[in-house]
Amino acid sequence: MAVTTESSIRLVTAIPGPRSVEWARRREAAVARGVSITVPVFIKHAEGATVEDIDGNRFLDFTAGIGCHNAGHRPPRVVEAIHQQADRFLHTCFMVTPYEGYVRLSELLNARAPGDFPKKTILVNSGAEAIENAVKIARSHTRRAGIIAFEDAFHGRTLLTLSLTGRTHPYKAGFGPFAPEVYRMPYPYCYRCSYHLTYPTCGVDCARQLETVFRRHVESGAVAAVLFEPVLGEGGFVVPPAEALQTIAEICRKHGVLTIADEVQTGFCRTGPLFACERLGLEPDLIVTAKSLAGGLPIGAVTGRAEIMDAPGPGGLGGTFGGNPVSCAAGLAFFETLDALDLSRRAEEIGRIFEETTGDWPRRFPLIGDIRGVGAMRALELVRDRSTREPAAEETKRVLQACHRRGLLIISAGMFGNVIRMLVPLVATGSQIEEGLRVLGDALAEVNEES
Ligand SMILES: Cc1ncc(COP(=O)(O)O)c(C=O)c1O
Repeated sequence: MAVTTESSIRLVTAIPGPRSVEWARRREAAVARGVSITVPVFIKHAEGATVEDIDGNRFLDFTAGIGCHNAGHRPPRVVEAIHQQADRFLHTCFMVTPYEGYVRLSELLNARAPGDFPKKTILVNSGAEAIENAVKIARSHTRRAGIIAFEDAFHGRTLLTLSLTGRTHPYKAGFGPFAPEVYRMPYPYCYRCSYHLTYPTCGVDCARQLETVFRRHVESGAVAAVLFEPVLGEGGFVVPPAEALQTIAEICRKHGVLTIADEVQTGFCRTGPLFACERLGLEPDLIVTAKSLAGGLPIGAVTGRAEIMDAPGPGGLGGTFGGNPVSCAAGLAFFETLDALDLSRRAEEIGRIFEETTGDWPRRFPLIGDIRGVGAMRALELVRDRSTREPAAEETKRVLQACHRRGLLIISAGMFGNVIRMLVPLVATGSQIEEGLRVLGDALAEVNEES
């Protein structure tokens, strides 16, 4: 077992350890199997970019609770703010008796979201609930029902957001019927272009297909909004050409269709700037956030043009716990942390370390078909054959397991489960990132040899 003083990883048992194995048994008996688990180690403590399990093993965390810990596990300011708020009050329901934190966090989101126009915000409990609300608001404003979403998109697990999600297994299969008035088009996924074209000679034809959707599937006058992720998250960390999303936004403007950016996974400096839309030069009408927003507590938000946000009448939006005071206090402290640590710059640095370290990986590892990403949102797409691009899903699983065995927590993504995604907390040190990538490189070498 690797035990060195500089190492963030400390393994004292095989993975999973005996205590975790015992809890996994109890979990199997008590918890519905639909809630699956990637690494069956039960966590006792977490700090920055590391988590420690109940067997005493310490892991380097390249998952950040699926992108919820951009400021690291337990950022000190966030923990302090949670304690302070817990000492004051836990819940009143903002719709019954309001509190300052909800308003302050809304003001911050309004000020920091892209677009130099008046904005308003609603706070909810999760990413999915925020997407649901964005759709309600867009429909209420436009008096149109249609929503256009993308293939490979992931927007959540509630029935409307599942309807908007573009993947059957394991998300949608068996859970229909789905919500009506959802239309779909391919995402600008250059490595697997639906039209077998090549960027830039394609002239972002995929984006121009929006006009075809309006001709073939639904008239533009019946469409409330196009909903998009600025970089695909669960869909495989696919970075579209900026021009493609800009073209979609232009077509939307021409037809009076709103744009809704789902920044649940891309937001809060994951791709460098506070919002990935800034990188793309986009000012969406509505922007949806969640995950890192409260530094690890549940929250979601819709922020957008004031006149659109105000379309639903009083009582039309809300929820018992939406914008819970403890989450709001955590959110305000998260923003302080993000600014104090300049996580935007840090994400760009992490991206550079990733590029430098993985520069020669395609030569060393034939399994790698594509390396992509922006800022600290980085991924490897594994294929069995570079010319056919046959997805290497089994091999991806083996690489991940080899990482877990070595103490690196890391997960997959992508329609075919063949993308390894890096969601490291942005507070990770250079040596932690290098250590994690070294483990990933060793795991790739092991599986490449076997393949
Ligand atoms: C892009 C995107 N949208 C929406 C969601 C749903 O968020 P939540 O799990 O908080 O409901 C997710 C979750 O992974 C996501 O990645």
